[in-house]
Amino acid sequence: MNRKKIAIVTGANHGIGFETALGMARAGYHVIMACRNRMKAESARAAIAERLPSASLGVMEIDLGDFASVRAFARDYRAASSYLDVLINNAGILLYTAQTNGDGIEQQFATNHLGHFLLTALLFDLFPDDPSSRIVHLSSLAHKNARIHFDDLTCGGNGGEAYGQSKLACLMFGEELHRRLRAAGLKTRSIPVHPGGSDSGLFDEMSRAQYYFFKILSPFILHSNASAAKPSLFAALDPAAEGGQYYGPKGYQEFRGKVGKANRDPSTQDLDSATRLWDLSEELTGQTFIPARQDGSVHRGDIASSTANAR
Ligand SMILES: NC(=O)c1ccc[n+]([C@@H]2O[C@H](COP(=O)([O-])OP(=O)(O)OC[C@H]3O[C@@H](n4cnc5c(N)ncnc54)[C@H](OP(=O)(O)O)[C@@H]3O)[C@@H](O)[C@H]2O)c1
Repeated sequence: MNRKKIAIVTGANHGIGFETALGMARAGYHVIMACRNRMKAESARAAIAERLPSASLGVMEIDLGDFASVRAFARDYRAASSYLDVLINNAGILLYTAQTNGDGIEQQFATNHLGHFLLTALLFDLFPDDPSSRIVHLSSLAHKNARIHFDDLTCGGNGGEAYGQSKLACLMFGEELHRRLRAAGLKTRSIPVHPGGSDSGLFDEMSRAQYYFFKILSPFILHSNASAAKPSLFAALDPAAEGGQYYGPKGYQEFRGKVGKANRDPSTQDLDSATRLWDLSEELTGQTFIPARQDGSVHRGDIASSTANAR
């Protein structure tokens, strides 16, 4: 059956997500722009349609930092569509002071990681068992030197540290999901990426002095949002993109350049921490997530033993 492929891009109204949505539309996908502000999303949809009149686009509301909103999104998506080919977990925030959300969880950890963990879990059975079905996770160079503060996710109120922690969690989730997919014998690819650096809306909360410093320096060391979207588009579209690999720009300090295999902090290979993070994510979202075949033939025990074998 010849059906239109569907991609969901979270945070598609601005920055890297906007360029990613445009790229997926160019590749012929129907793109669901999953955004927290409908007006901003509609104006981004109009901007994409102006640049690409053939684009097939939908807008749906989601607040990744609010689990009830993520559940409502998944419910609405499932009511409208029986399959999903690509999920790009792109939306993100950078806060300079750690804050907690309505569920009492550090806001960046909730938005950048847990909201996407929950979304992926709720839509997982819609992916066709095919290597072109992809789940892409946006990490960051900031994952390096970060760690998961299992005892205090607010990182003592240090927003920068909590941002690094959330992006480390995105990378570890992407890798652990790959291990579990492989253990379950599923072909969907889970691929973490980082965009390098680009002058997007992410840095809007900087102090005025930092902001001007950043504005002066960024043209020399960073790249455009369109270039920063390339690792995500490679992971989502290229047959050569491997599950469990980590991709990003390979130029100066990995800030910009051609897409290739990116460097990851050795701590991401700590499998006990990856399992602990997965369990914590299930606990905090209240959502069990067992990648299983659609006939349900893989069960938790099987995954535990085959994941151990895959290690
Ligand atoms: N730019 C960089 O240098 C850089 C470097 C490393 C990693 N990244 C990662 O790249 C991704 C995209 O960021 P960006 O640089 O393009 O920043 P951006 O321009 O600020 O875009 C972030 C997007 O995420 C959305 N978003 C934020 N909180 C949300 C929530 N609770 N629910 C739903 N959507 C939400 C924003 O929506 P609103 O417009 O409504 O706020 C916006 O559409 C992020 O995951 C970020 O961590 C960026």
